[in-house]
Amino acid sequence: MSSPTFARIDELKSHAGQTVTVRGWVTHLRSSGKVAFVVLRDGSGSLQAVLVKNQVSPETWTLFSELTQESSIAVTGEVRLDDRAPGGVEMGAKELELIGRSPLDYPIQPKEHGIDFLMDNRHFWLRSPRQVAIMRIRNEIEQAIHDFFYERGFIRVDTPILTAAIGERSGLFSTEYFDEGNAYLAQTGQLYGEAAAAALGKIYTFGPTFRAEKSKTRRHLTEFWMIEPEVAFNDSAANMRLQEDFVSYLVQRCLERRRAELLEIGRALAPPEREKPPFHRLDYTDAITLIQKKGSETKWGDDLGAEDESLIVADYDRPVFVMNYPKEAKAFYMKENPADPRTVLCDDLLATEGYGEIIGGSQREDDYDKLVARIKHEGLPIEAYDWYLDLRRYGTFVHAGFGLGLERTVAWICGLQHIREAIPFARMMHRLRP
Ligand code: 4AD
Ligand code: MG
Repeated sequence: MSSPTFARIDELKSHAGQTVTVRGWVTHLRSSGKVAFVVLRDGSGSLQAVLVKNQVSPETWTLFSELTQESSIAVTGEVRLDDRAPGGVEMGAKELELIGRSPLDYPIQPKEHGIDFLMDNRHFWLRSPRQVAIMRIRNEIEQAIHDFFYERGFIRVDTPILTAAIGERSGLFSTEYFDEGNAYLAQTGQLYGEAAAAALGKIYTFGPTFRAEKSKTRRHLTEFWMIEPEVAFNDSAANMRLQEDFVSYLVQRCLERRRAELLEIGRALAPPEREKPPFHRLDYTDAITLIQKKGSETKWGDDLGAEDESLIVADYDRPVFVMNYPKEAKAFYMKENPADPRTVLCDDLLATEGYGEIIGGSQREDDYDKLVARIKHEGLPIEAYDWYLDLRRYGTFVHAGFGLGLERTVAWICGLQHIREAIPFARMMHRLRP
């Protein structure tokens, strides 16, 4: 026999009638005594291989009886088209090879497990069909992000993770940095993104960001991935148009290319199908009136909590921009609103179905004196912002940008209960392993 042709399960249709070898992990085994079935998965799909006792060698038949769930194997046989099979193919197996045996105590069994158990066994849990589908959707979203910006002439800029300047108000992870004092793990790449926008015009960052937040909610991680575009000469209105085009592009890509995975995880397709621009726009002040009518005790001046956000989006079938928050509720770099200087030119984009904020964006303060005053008012160390202030000293420019939280977006598009399933290995206040 000539050397084997290895194939991935999702390529098998093009090998119909040929003999190929597929390698993967056993998910199901059953036998009638004369005919045996092995179902294996390889990350690209799931395949049923059929062994007929009197058509395979005695060694192969014996090996089948020794297989266990999650053993890694290679199966060689003829690919047969079969409309009833998942993926449309089946294999008439001729040979089996055991690559790595899995003991019988594989922790994840076909029964209900508690979430802590599953998170402790995340390295195994990731192998389950639902988690595989979520990771494939996450990958689609990541690729769609790159495609969206590439097609529009944005340049991807990688910003540092070890930083000296603080970007956001939330908690900081810090570490000693030689003789330079404390280094902080980046909460945002934005400040560097602004410098890069003055060099390249339209940029985006895509990297891990860190927040030492003691929040145990279903939408907070301590390490999450953020995508931060920054555009020279965009104002707040243009910034919001970019956001709605971007978010609807991501949703449509998943609907087009990851329909099977969305169905696998039981995501009803109707809600995401509505996510088309224009999204709704609501002034912060009107949002406060709306939620107070619905019984919220949040007052003008406060940031909006998760419950407030749910009250707001409940009235809408598409995502909602809440615009122009009070200065005191937001970060130092946001531009003062000329129409109402108590507020800043910013927006939070709230996703439908109660998912809440997936984007925070703003026009940036481009006035040197106002920015200095804000940094001082916030009690931030002005020396750390020297270079950032230079951007206002040397050719200041109107500019705006935003940050999209990847995991919140994945959780929303997938309809997940909790953000921990939206990232391969979640980092949360009480979770550092595996
Ligand atoms: O609203 P945030 O804090 O905005 C910024 O960091 C700006 N520098 C962005 C910019 O203008 N360039 O965070 C942006 C987004 C949030 O809307 C949310 O989706 C996500 O990042 N995010 C988190 N995701 C998971 N866990 C957390 N702890 C998060 N904190 C923020
Ligand atoms: Mg925010």
